[in-house]
Amino acid sequence: MSTGTLPTSINENYRIVLPQSRIPTHWYNILADMPVPLPPVLHPGTKQPIGPADLAPLFPMGLIMQEVSPERYIPIPDEVRDIYRLWRPTPLVRAVRLEKALDTPAHIYYKYEGASPSGSHKLNTAVPQAYFNKQEGIQRIATETGAGQWGSALAIAGDFFKIAIEIFMVKISYQQKPYRRSIMQTYGASVTPSPSDRTQSGRTILARNPNSTGSLGIAISEAVEVAATSGGTTKYSLGSVLNHVLLHQTVVGQEALDGMAEMGEYPDVVIGCVGGGSNYAGLAYPFLHRTLTEGVKTRFVAVEPTSCPTLTKGPYLYDFGDTVGLTPLIKMYTLGHDFVPPSIHAGGLRYHGMAPTISALVKAGYIEPRACGQNECFDAGVLFARQEGILPAPETNHAIRAAIDEALAAKEKDEKKVILFNFSGHGHFDMSAYDAYLAGTLLDGGFSEEAMAKSLATVPQVG
Ligand SMILES: Cc1ncc(COP(=O)(O)O)c(C=O)c1O
Repeated sequence: MSTGTLPTSINENYRIVLPQSRIPTHWYNILADMPVPLPPVLHPGTKQPIGPADLAPLFPMGLIMQEVSPERYIPIPDEVRDIYRLWRPTPLVRAVRLEKALDTPAHIYYKYEGASPSGSHKLNTAVPQAYFNKQEGIQRIATETGAGQWGSALAIAGDFFKIAIEIFMVKISYQQKPYRRSIMQTYGASVTPSPSDRTQSGRTILARNPNSTGSLGIAISEAVEVAATSGGTTKYSLGSVLNHVLLHQTVVGQEALDGMAEMGEYPDVVIGCVGGGSNYAGLAYPFLHRTLTEGVKTRFVAVEPTSCPTLTKGPYLYDFGDTVGLTPLIKMYTLGHDFVPPSIHAGGLRYHGMAPTISALVKAGYIEPRACGQNECFDAGVLFARQEGILPAPETNHAIRAAIDEALAAKEKDEKKVILFNFSGHGHFDMSAYDAYLAGTLLDGGFSEEAMAKSLATVPQVG
């Protein structure tokens, strides 16, 4: 649907930063437009649908009501918009130098979420999560972090609202990314490598495997346990997967819609990497709204690592969100809650499950899943960095790989496609991954069908 031409003139815009008055006033809630019913969340004991009260030990009611809300648009509180003003709207950039390097007729756009103070999209939800906890007098929040991006974001948001933040950081990332830990500590958060002996969950995992490098599922178990056993003083916060987290991220897609309209273009394909699904949903759902309500034809492509292929290899089942089995059961694509993905550098994509709305939309055929290997993603990320100047996070490299592949396919067919992807974060604290890539020691593969089957055997039977 490209209507523009290659900007050869110095006077042509290919980078749009909307004025701050156009920061969205509402979040967009896909639950109002789901083309298929979303299966209910179940109590792990009774296997019956849960209600808001069941979630109250873990989350403040303000967020729980967003989790279950059927309203299409949910107002963003002024205090949250005020903080969004620190970095929003983020730039929408046409990657013209990358287009030229690929010699493609396609137009490639990216929404640059690396512009946030924490370096990724995660601050879009960390701020409202801290705000709604503060509203209900909560003074402490426990959470997990994979690569450290989520932990950094919640550390900043917690500091803004004077809430103590306790973070369980996946052990392999704790070792690979020491400066992410320093960032979290600089904002006053406490950081513990997971699995740890701080919780029963951690001790159980360590007893089974003292050398465990950890996983997001294990770190979630530790953080949930801290909140659930706090007697109400500590709540839990999740950086992805849940409806309210994806909801908060829709500021990205709404701004992208607005920015693309300024450019006089509309994407043929919308791409993002998926760990739990939040950055991709944030970009894609406002465009999907137009597909669902107006019939606008757009392809939606979600990219995951071949070493943690939740959408491309996992079944669609009820499973726990954490490893130990403390969370409610959600219907999602899963590799089994026991699955520990290989220690790849895109730590934020090492999650066994997937957001329930993304899962339902993949199942119904609205979103195409795709899996890419680590090295081909770094090839794409380095090409992007050397053309556009910005060094992407390893997670983001997955989206860039797929965007480049789409642009090369367009070249093959001589089609003028418009491609939009979410640049979910910069990679300035991921240089050990780039070191490994440049040294040729970055490993591909590592996914084991056998390990998945073993893990899936422990998934509870429902219905
Ligand atoms: C830069 C970056 N991109 C993507 C992700 C994946 O998470 P999600 O799928 O929730 O966006 C993460 C998670 O840590 C991240 O740090």
